[in-house]
Amino acid sequence: MYEGLTSVGAVRRLWSGETELYRQHLLRLDAESRRNRFGGAVSDEFIQRYAEPAALDGAVIYGFFVDGVLRGAAELRPLARAGEAEAALSVEREWQSRGVGTALLERVLLVARNRQIKHLHMICLAENRRVQQLARKFDAELTFQSGSVVADVIAARPTPVSLMRELVADSADLAIAMLDVPSQLAKRLDHTKRPPESPQPDHERLMLQSMATRRRFLKTTGAATLALASPHATGEAEAQTARLQTERVNLTINGRLYAIDLDPRTTVLDVLREHLALTGSKKGCDQGQCGACTVIVNGQRINSCLALAVMHDGDEITTIEGLADEGVLHPMQAAFVRHDGLQCGYCTPGQICSAVALLSEHRDGWPSYVTADVETAPALTNAEIAERMSGNICRCSAYPNIVAAIREVAEEDRR
Ligand code: FES
Ligand code: FES
Repeated sequence: MYEGLTSVGAVRRLWSGETELYRQHLLRLDAESRRNRFGGAVSDEFIQRYAEPAALDGAVIYGFFVDGVLRGAAELRPLARAGEAEAALSVEREWQSRGVGTALLERVLLVARNRQIKHLHMICLAENRRVQQLARKFDAELTFQSGSVVADVIAARPTPVSLMRELVADSADLAIAMLDVPSQLAKRLDHTKRPPESPQPDHERLMLQSMATRRRFLKTTGAATLALASPHATGEAEAQTARLQTERVNLTINGRLYAIDLDPRTTVLDVLREHLALTGSKKGCDQGQCGACTVIVNGQRINSCLALAVMHDGDEITTIEGLADEGVLHPMQAAFVRHDGLQCGYCTPGQICSAVALLSEHRDGWPSYVTADVETAPALTNAEIAERMSGNICRCSAYPNIVAAIREVAEEDRR
């Protein structure tokens, strides 16, 4: 979907000062797209008022730009109830059904997630199948309320990675916006002559009022949220980032104590690989999905790409380099070799660390998702091993041999 889109346009955030672009985009919507966007027929005057800079205060808007012209937009408005927000999409006719809505909604969901917004309401007309399908794609729950459909999208919890993704994307957006300025200035000159304002129909005045009362925007949601909500605050956040001091972090890694001065944003995985040259732990997805970075911290396995080192000050970490004992392989390492539990070997350090921790979890009686009776210690069947190792992905599909290796060590342990 994205490949085709990115070759013709770009999705980026609209910064304050760009509301005129939004207004012009909304004005270009044809009658049906306007109805779908606003839940009813609206005039140009309505849109002029709706997209006043003051009226958009508090909204986060992402746009789809083609040659500097805004062709689609997603607007996110936090609601008065904490953890809830409203989203609305608009795409100009010739850009509909081309993946623009998906691309915009994805960006909005990232922002919602990072602001700890759990419920994102998308209100659309019952006949607006396009938005309903889009909402379903994001696992929304659709309910019918007074002739409208409310799509309730549950956003995932923020993670350091999702926060970084938004920061990085916003920085890139700002740079692209700067590049767009000359073409926007030229186009704006065409729009400086506004048509004289005509009296607003009653139903539109009521729509504006009801929108305003529905949204009492969250004024403050913490410094980080503010920093992302306005360019001014972003500047402050950047200045703060520049002022960040390093933190002294004490880690015991494979039995050796390290005291390291670190940028507080450094992950455990980067400390291992980049600072200590312990490159056994691999970086696969860097998003907590593949398990290649698994290490054992205080006896429990974790995805080290998702853990900030400062959160583990004083902890004991075991990596693949620390499993062997003076040149003698750990029983799990030896079993992987015996059973040929690897092909390219990229996932193997994570698989082995995970398997070692799995056995101690099992010894301690921890149940898994497939354990039928959580009251009694489960036997370590192939199904139990597969479930407990499901966080470690092997792109070479060496799974049968991995399971056989783990099972053998588990059985030796029992004797
Ligand atoms: S690199 Fe950490 S889970 Fe993939
Ligand atoms: S052995 Fe190649 S990814 Fe697992």
